[in-house]
This record gives sequence, C-alpha cells and structure tokens, in this order.
Amino acid sequence: MEFYLPVRLLTGRGVVAQNAARLASFGRRCLIVTGGSGAKRCGALDDVAAALGSQGVQYRIFDGVRPNPSVFSCVEGGRLALDFGAEFIIGIGGGSALDAAKLIAVSAANPSLDAQGLYRKNWSNAPLPVVLVGTTAGTGSEVTPVAVITDPSGRKNSFHGEDFYAALSLGDPRYTESLPLSVTASTGVDALAHCLESLLSNTATDVSRAFALQGIAQLLAPLRTVAGGSLPSVQEREVLYHGSILGGMAISVTGTVFPHKLGYWLTEEHGLPHGFACAVFLPALLRHADASMGAELRALLSRSGTDPESLTALIQALTPRPDFTLTEAEADALVPRWENNAALSKTVGGVSPDELRGILRELFVL
Ligand SMILES: [Fe+2]
Repeated sequence: MEFYLPVRLLTGRGVVAQNAARLASFGRRCLIVTGGSGAKRCGALDDVAAALGSQGVQYRIFDGVRPNPSVFSCVEGGRLALDFGAEFIIGIGGGSALDAAKLIAVSAANPSLDAQGLYRKNWSNAPLPVVLVGTTAGTGSEVTPVAVITDPSGRKNSFHGEDFYAALSLGDPRYTESLPLSVTASTGVDALAHCLESLLSNTATDVSRAFALQGIAQLLAPLRTVAGGSLPSVQEREVLYHGSILGGMAISVTGTVFPHKLGYWLTEEHGLPHGFACAVFLPALLRHADASMGAELRALLSRSGTDPESLTALIQALTPRPDFTLTEAEADALVPRWENNAALSKTVGGVSPDELRGILRELFVL
C-alpha cells in the first residue's frame, strides 16, 4: 500500500481571511485564476483579494477559464503570470478553474512550452506554488494530483503527477451556498462518482476505501435533499463539501474508472455537465460490480449505510437522462474509442468491449 497526499487543507467558515499570512508566505505577487462570474458572486474572490491586500501582496486576475478549459487558455494564463512576475497562483472556482490554475503554474514556470509542448508533458522547471479555493462541492481537485484539460484536438485528458498537488487548499463551504440546484446536483453526483469509482477500482487500498466509504456516507443525506428538489441547508452544504474532499482523497489514490472516461465523451460530444455526464454511467457500474463482486459490494456499501438499489435510485433521481439517442451502429462504433483504456481494465472485474457495447446500447439506443 502506498499513500502520499502532500496538501495542506484547511476548511471552515472564514478560512481565507484567517489564513492571509499563509497566502503571503508564497510571495509578494500572484495571479488569481477564475472562471466567469462565480468566484465573484459567491464572495470568494473578494475574500481572497482582501486577504492579499491585508498582507501587501499584489495580484492580477485572469478570468478567462471556461468550463472544460483548453490547454490554450492555460498557456495564455501562464504568459500573464510570467509578464506580471507572479510568484504563485491562486485558483478560485470549481474543477475547471482549479485544474486550469494547476497547469497555468506549470506554463508560467516553463515559458518556452506552447500548448503542444505542455501536452507532451516535457517540462523541466517545477511549477509555481498553487493555492486552491474551491467554490463547488464536487471536483475534489483541491486534494488530487490531477488536472483535466481539453487538448488541442478537443478531447478531455488528464495531467497526473506530483506537480499537480496544491501547496495549500482553503475550503469555505459558504462559497457553495449560492449554487443553484442543478449545479449542486451535477457537482454533487460528481463527488459521489469519485467515491464509487474509487471504491470499485482494482487499485483501491484500505486507505482509499476508508475515504470513499466515508465520502458516500456523508454525501447521501444532502444529495437526498437535492433529489427531492430542495437546496441543501447550510449544515448540509458543509457535509456535502467535506464529502467532495473525501472523494478527492479517494481518487488521489486510485484515479477513476469507466464512468468518468465515458463521461468525458458525453461532455465533449453532447455538452453534458461533467458530473451528470459521469453519473449517467454509475447505475451500470453498480450493476457490473454486483455481478462481479456479489455479496462483497453489499457488505461494502452497508458500511456507508446504503445498498446498490437505493444508491441507483438516488443517482437516477439526481441525473437527467441525456436527450439524444443513437442507432445500434452508432453505439457500436463508439466502442473502439475506449479500446485498451486503463480506466476500463481498472474497473473491478474488468469491462470487456462486449459489455461496454451493451451499456451504450442500453442507455442510448431506443
Ligand atoms: Fe469528476
């Protein structure tokens, strides 16, 4: 068993203001990386700006990160950081902004690399230190060594390695309180997918299982509230946020399995939000695990206070069905896309091309 997770994580209400001096310990100039308006609306950007101001740290804001960020925007952010003389990067947002911040830190430290060069992952200088401020309860990027970035051909791909751990993650659940129901649902099922996929990976360890099972146990109550059409309470928001962090800790050990890989396709080709795109495949994952693990799956899930049937019902209540269909030929033609994909062979019991064909037909062929 191996476990390594070198991120200082601090959570709680007011955590950014309380840690202004820690922010200043990374340097006197920083680039703040955000998406559109979310970082401002939830109060995180103002809190970070005030904390930096109180310490005399100068900053510039790069708000050019879009959902499923491209490697080109990371190069753009890297140039801006370099021009400004940034000594560290602060990412504020959901998974897109946090993942982009990680690659911008690499780009800023390796200015000779263009988008293609970054994608070949052949940098020599260590990235700038990264501070992450999560504003959704889903990604877990705050604690993972992963950045998912859209490559020059339009496909989502993972960067993975010790360069992608944040130096510091600050999580204030208040920032998630302004999220509307659909974003809360999509990011919440993403967190649930991280826990379940980690649990049902061949690479799971006792440590990753502990995180995954505790994550599932915490996510259940707030996600039931969301499935019932209500926003989570303030207390449930905190439980949900911590559940997403536990999911991130679980996948920092195991990575994800087939629902995430197939979910990337649904996002790239059909525009589904990341969490919903992955969750569409979770009932199939549970059925697959039930067939290959039998009583062991039930025994595991009972430790989180649930069972395969209740979990499937909850996921289906939270996840809108994709509004398109495929012909049998179209579904079958997709299968080679995941030929020899590690995420499929890492799924407990392994997923064969025939089984994958069946999953795609069942979901998308009327
Ligand atoms: Fe995810």
